[in-house]
Amino acid sequence: MTEEEIDETQIRRAGEILRGGGLVAFPTETVYGLGGDAFNPESSRKIYAAKGRPSDNPLIVHICRIEDLERVAARVTPEARRLAEAFWPGPLTIILPKRPELPAETTGGLDTVAVRFPSNRIARAMISAGGGFIAAPSANRSGRPSPTLAQYCREDLDGRVDMIIDGGQVGLGLESTIIDLTDTVPVILRPGFVTWEKLQEVLGNIDAGSLVPDLNDDTAPKAPGMKYRHYAPKGNLTIVDGEPEKVIAYINEKNRCHRAAGIRTGVICTEETKDYYEADLVKSAGSREEEETVARELFRILREFDDEGAGEIYAESFDSTGVGRAVMNRLLKAAGQRVVHL
Ligand code: TXA
Ligand code: MG
Repeated sequence: MTEEEIDETQIRRAGEILRGGGLVAFPTETVYGLGGDAFNPESSRKIYAAKGRPSDNPLIVHICRIEDLERVAARVTPEARRLAEAFWPGPLTIILPKRPELPAETTGGLDTVAVRFPSNRIARAMISAGGGFIAAPSANRSGRPSPTLAQYCREDLDGRVDMIIDGGQVGLGLESTIIDLTDTVPVILRPGFVTWEKLQEVLGNIDAGSLVPDLNDDTAPKAPGMKYRHYAPKGNLTIVDGEPEKVIAYINEKNRCHRAAGIRTGVICTEETKDYYEADLVKSAGSREEEETVARELFRILREFDDEGAGEIYAESFDSTGVGRAVMNRLLKAAGQRVVHL
């Protein structure tokens, strides 16, 4: 179905499954989610099992009306209200202290809750049909890139969920921005389309957070999900940063050696540079002029390299401002932070 043509029969069926404690994979504007009733601890347990995800990694609670924020958050601060008014419905997740009624299973045992009101109309109809409070992580098996197509949900979760709603390719392609409002200064735990720059316009002083978690820091990370390995393709992924001509020459030279050794090579590049690479698989993610296109295609490309057996993969680097910050954050995680500076 599409956002313009909602299939009410499917929505009703999804609602029944969710209210009965079952799981439904569904499209949002960011990535596909794996939903269950947020107030049913058994549903949350099933989500962890289906994803193969550690149960200390909390789930985002999805709502379909701003006023429902109060039903899951114990204290809705003035900052939270301003953010909700400015960016909801949309790709922003807000962390606040949780209400005791919300099961510990849903929040991974934390006393805070992450809340999001997605803009996708299929998601909103489904949340409403399912009772209004849907816990949902991204609908991938733990460690894989988040799904941007229903087909990827099927590949990862077939037989582990009760229903998959196909809403076509998602519009944005990277997960929501997460902002934590439980500290003295609001801090971004995960960069996304609602950028640090946009958030500052509404709230003023905001900690942009680290671009990637510090792997040598043993203290508990703020967003438990950040400590886990993410998105990594099966092949070795290296980011190459520098002047475009030097980056192209470096990657082509490396790939010549790999190909001589019989290794299948891949490149993640842009429209501006794609004609200059020599590799088995050259994939343009979009144009540097429009970083949104790169964001939309990145996870699909990472999955394709696995399907096509790439052993060594090189990626161009992106500016870490605006949406580029979200792109670089995901790329760095996928590359295990392996970056060559030229
Ligand atoms: O765009 C999105 O946010 C997608 C769609 C489906 O809405 N969802 C998503 O969920 O990306 P997930 O579970 O894959 O990522 C949520 C991240 C995890 O890293 C988790 O640790 C963190 O949010 N998180 C959830 N609740 C939290 C909390 N109370 N405090 C800190 N981090 C939290
Ligand atoms: Mg995820």
